Amino acid sequence: MTDQQQIAAKIWDPTLYDNTAQYILYYGEDVIKWLAPKKGENIIDLGCGTGHLTAKIAESGANVTGVDNSGAMLQEAKKQYPEIPFIQADATNFHLDEPVEAVFSNAALHWMTEPQGVISSVSKALKPGGRFIGEMGAKENIATIIAAINMAFVEIGQEPMPAVFPWYFPSLAEYATLLEENGFTVEQMAQFQRPTALNNGPEGLKSWMRNFADPLLDTLSEEEREFVLERTITYAEPALVDDDTWFADYVRLRFVAVKDK
Ligand code: BEZ
Repeated sequence: MTDQQQIAAKIWDPTLYDNTAQYILYYGEDVIKWLAPKKGENIIDLGCGTGHLTAKIAESGANVTGVDNSGAMLQEAKKQYPEIPFIQADATNFHLDEPVEAVFSNAALHWMTEPQGVISSVSKALKPGGRFIGEMGAKENIATIIAAINMAFVEIGQEPMPAVFPWYFPSLAEYATLLEENGFTVEQMAQFQRPTALNNGPEGLKSWMRNFADPLLDTLSEEEREFVLERTITYAEPALVDDDTWFADYVRLRFVAVKDK
């Protein structure tokens, strides 16, 4: 078995996600400003999850469709927003009847570890001159959390990351090059640190890990998992706590790219 095969498949839990990650909605509204949706435009929200940002985009009067690979997340999205169309599809392989004016994606592209396939699908989905607007984890994203998990993994004799890395965190230069090589012109791109406050102190970081590091933790026994959670807290605390508040050390990559005509 290769190291990559040892990562468990990500299983999304809509309730845990909505409870843990309210900040995704909060920060995502800022990314919608870069999208600047217009009434009547056709827009795809790629990796829409439980659909909250899809619904925010729809408030502009745009015709927005949510696309996600997780049936569980889409079930919740459809329950909350029955008036919005949602499609279950892989981001590297989704097809639309008609190309759209814009594809939007917030906090999802880093879960899609075949970026070339994703960008190529996005290009096929867009009209010439169409916009691809996204925000994702960038190079050095959650570096402190990763280092702390690694130290805990080593203690239990597990392979540290990146040998078993479940995410894609490109640098600005890498992602801009990939977009340009696939027929996009990058109009705006920024890489910036965005420490993100977690609720409930160390329990907040544990919830974050249960929600988001589960592809790594699910390969462990329950006893090992609890040990790794505790040790990660201990290792990460000096770098992640400021004035009694715990932060995830997020680094974001945000961009607007336009499909060449
Ligand atoms: C992020 O939003 O940067 C992120 C979320 C979950 C896991 C890894 C990164």
